[in-house]
Amino acid sequence: MEEISCVSAPKKRLEGKVAIITGGASGIGATTVRIFIENGAKVVVADIQDQQGEEIAAKLGKNAHYVHCDVSKEDDVKDLIDATISKFGHLDVMYNNAGVYDVTIKSVLDTELADLERKISVNLIGSFLGAKYAAKAMINNKKGCILFTTSCCTKVAGIASHTYVASKYAIVGMCKNLAVELGLHGIRVNCISPFAILPSNNIINNEIKSRFELIISNIGNLKGINHNKEDVANAAVFLASDEGKYLSGHNLVIDGGFSVVNPSFLKITGQYT
Ligand SMILES: NC(=O)c1ccc[n+]([C@@H]2O[C@H](COP(=O)([O-])OP(=O)(O)OC[C@H]3O[C@@H](n4cnc5c(N)ncnc54)[C@H](O)[C@@H]3O)[C@@H](O)[C@H]2O)c1
Repeated sequence: MEEISCVSAPKKRLEGKVAIITGGASGIGATTVRIFIENGAKVVVADIQDQQGEEIAAKLGKNAHYVHCDVSKEDDVKDLIDATISKFGHLDVMYNNAGVYDVTIKSVLDTELADLERKISVNLIGSFLGAKYAAKAMINNKKGCILFTTSCCTKVAGIASHTYVASKYAIVGMCKNLAVELGLHGIRVNCISPFAILPSNNIINNEIKSRFELIISNIGNLKGINHNKEDVANAAVFLASDEGKYLSGHNLVIDGGFSVVNPSFLKITGQYT
């Protein structure tokens, strides 16, 4: 007699979809690549860290493929889209996640023009090129999803460098404008703005990790829970999936409410304590 299981397999929310994730060789991008594949997508990992990108794709199997792409270079981005179509046949999701940022925040007086040019070149121009060539590939299909990783610094001031903030704000503006034009072709365009997530690299030991988590838990609005890369990846899955089919032009802030609170008021009134 055939055995019937009471436990149904988890739903694959991106079954049949083909995605590109830039900056997919590490951090938020690498986690998103894994979770997209777990949800049934075929994913092209695009990055400049070739060894790391190749390793991730090899580990994830036949539904992952690595392509070297410097997002600030137009020919690289064009080639990335072509390589994706020739490997997997079409493109449903373009996640422009690659980005550069500062570890320390400098005064405007010490900020070099080159700092701004680098942020604009990778964060903004990279996002623009990704959106432009993805749109070209999606328009005939009359559907598609373009995502950008921005930052909660687009909602609250004073938490990142001037150059980084300038580049991320510009992406949010561009996203909304793109949502207008590309909506005519059934293409949705959205931003995802995370709060603060520690990168996972060799320099981060347990002590740094605990210190970081303590600081974020102290300044964060939502207590008793850590913010991690999966939060961003799961938001991207939602926006890319058919569950997000009527969402466009949003800046989805993932900050546990940090950017809506003015802590000075609570400090003075002592409310809720
Ligand atoms: N970690 C956070 O707290 C946080 C918060 C808000 C926004 N973000 C944004 O999230 C995105 C991912 O950051 P992360 O925290 O995972 O950092 P990360 O450094 O681990 O990842 C960034 C990735 O982008 C790649 N990259 C850099 N320049 C590139 C280029 N020219 N072409 C292609 N790839 C390039 C890097 O090689 C790297 O793999 C970035 O856009 C960042 O600004 C991060």
